[in-house]
Amino acid sequence: MEEITKKAPKKNTIENQILVIFGSNGDLSKRKLLPAIFQLYLDDLLPDNFILIGAGSQEKDEESNRVEVKEALLKFAKGDVTAFPEKLELFLQRLYYKKVHNQTEEDFGELKEYIDTLSARLNIPKNIIYYFSIPPFLYEVVAAHLVKYGLNTEDDGWKRIIVEKPFGYSYDTAIDLDKKLRSGFNEDQIYRIDHYLGKETVQNIMVTRFSNGFFEPIWNRKYVDRIEITAAEKIGVGSRGGYYDTSGAMRDMIQNHLMQVLAVIAMEPPSIFDSESIRNETVKVLQALRPIKTSEIQDYVVRGQYIATDVDGELQKGYRQETNVVSNSKTETFVAMKLFVDNWRWGDVPFYIRTGKQLPERVTEVIIHLKPAPHQLFKQRCVAQSTNMIILRIHPDAGVAVDFGMKIPGAGYKVQNVNMAFHYSDLAENKISEAYERLLLDCMIGDSTLYARADAVKASWKFVDPILQAWKTNPKIPLYFYECNTWGPNESNALFGDKQLKWRVPFKKFKTD
Ligand code: BG6
Repeated sequence: MEEITKKAPKKNTIENQILVIFGSNGDLSKRKLLPAIFQLYLDDLLPDNFILIGAGSQEKDEESNRVEVKEALLKFAKGDVTAFPEKLELFLQRLYYKKVHNQTEEDFGELKEYIDTLSARLNIPKNIIYYFSIPPFLYEVVAAHLVKYGLNTEDDGWKRIIVEKPFGYSYDTAIDLDKKLRSGFNEDQIYRIDHYLGKETVQNIMVTRFSNGFFEPIWNRKYVDRIEITAAEKIGVGSRGGYYDTSGAMRDMIQNHLMQVLAVIAMEPPSIFDSESIRNETVKVLQALRPIKTSEIQDYVVRGQYIATDVDGELQKGYRQETNVVSNSKTETFVAMKLFVDNWRWGDVPFYIRTGKQLPERVTEVIIHLKPAPHQLFKQRCVAQSTNMIILRIHPDAGVAVDFGMKIPGAGYKVQNVNMAFHYSDLAENKISEAYERLLLDCMIGDSTLYARADAVKASWKFVDPILQAWKTNPKIPLYFYECNTWGPNESNALFGDKQLKWRVPFKKFKTD
C-alpha cells in the first residue's frame, strides 16, 4: 500500500504561534484537545516557540491551571504520561490562562492585552488560532468580540478560528452563522472541524480509491449494487442529554460526519491533491443528493429512540430517563436512511446510512456491495451466498477487507465466501494518530483539506433540513422505539424494499456473515 499519511511536517515548517482555547476547562478540551496537543509536543511537531492560552470562565491563576491540565493529561492522554516526566513539565510551562467570560465584551479587551504582553515577553509572533470549544450559541458572540478588539486582523500575524460542529441548527441558522463569522473572518481563516475527516481511515478511503488502479474502475453504478455506511455506538447519551435532546442523531452524526464520509466515498477523483480540489469534489457529491420529498420521508428515513432494557441482568436507562432529557422527548437516537446521489457515476445506486446509540457494538464501517457476477455458474453449489463486498472499516480494527467466493478444496465446485483483510495494526511502524492531533496540526500549518468548507456544510443542511422539518411538524411520522443492545428498530430493514436484504451486522474482526 502507498503512503497512508501525508508526511508529518518538519517542525521548522510550522510557524511559531499561539493557540487560544475558549472553553479550556470543558470536557472536549480536557478529553481531546489537551491530550492531542501534548501528543504533538511529544512527537516534536509543535514549533519551538508555541504557547497555549486557556480561556475560560473560571477564576484561577496560571499555576493552578497547569495543575488541572496535568490532571487531565494523566487521565486522558494516550499512553502513560508519567513515562515522560521532564517533557510533561516542559509542556506545562507553555500553558497560560486568562479568565474570559465569553459574553462579556470587555474581557476580550483584557485578553488582547494578555496576548500582547505574552507575545512581546516571549517573542512570539501573533499567529493565533482561536479554538471555539464552547457551546455553538456562543460562536457568533465570541467571533464578534474578537473582531471588536481587532483580534482578527492579520497585519501582525495570521489569525484562524476553529469551530466545532454543529455548524448551525438548520439550513437557515447555518447560513446565518456563516454570514456572522464571515463578517469578521475570511473563509480561509475559518476551520470547521469534523473529527471524522481527521480519522486516518477516512483519509485512507481516498488513498485506497485513488492510488490503486483496480478499485476505481468498479467504483460506479455499473458494478456497485448498493453502499452501506454504519456508525454505531454502544454507549447512550450519558451526561450529554442537555445538548443531545436539542440535537438528535440527524444533527449530531448524519448532517456532518456521515455526510462527509459519504462525500469521500462518492467523490470524483480530483486532478491534484490539494485542499481546494478535494473540497471542490466532495461538495459536488453533497450538492447532487436527491432531495427527499416530504410525502416520501417514511419510505426513506427511519428514526428510533432507545428504551430502558435489561441487558445481561443490568438495567440500561431508556433515552427519556437520561439526565436533562425531557420525559416525552421525540428526539431520535437512531436514524437509518436511504439516499441517492444523482450523477453519472451513482445514478440510482442506493446509499444506506445508519447511526445510533445503545447499539451492540461501537463500529463505523462502509460496505460497497458489488453486483453479482452476470452469470451464476456455481449457483447450486454455494455453501454460503456468494457476495462481493469491499469493507472499509473505520473503527475499531481499522482496515480494508474484500469479500468474495472461493472454491472449497476437494471434489466438485462448492463455493464459499472468504475475505482478504488488511489491518492497519499490521503497519507497525506507522502509529495511527488521533483525529484531533491531525486536525490541529493541519490548522497550525494552514492546511484546510480535512476541514469542512462552507458550501459543503450548506449543501448537507439543504438535504437534511426538510427531513427535520417534517419530523417536527408531522406527528404521524413514527418514532420507533428499540431496545438497548439491538441494531435499532427492525423497520430500518424495510428501507431496502427487498425482504432478502437487510443491514449487515458488523463483526469485530472483519469476519463476514
Ligand atoms: C461526536 C458526536 O461528534 O461524534 C457524538 O457528538 C458521537 O455524539 C461522536 O458519540 C462519535 O465519534 P467517534 O469518533 O467516537 O465515532
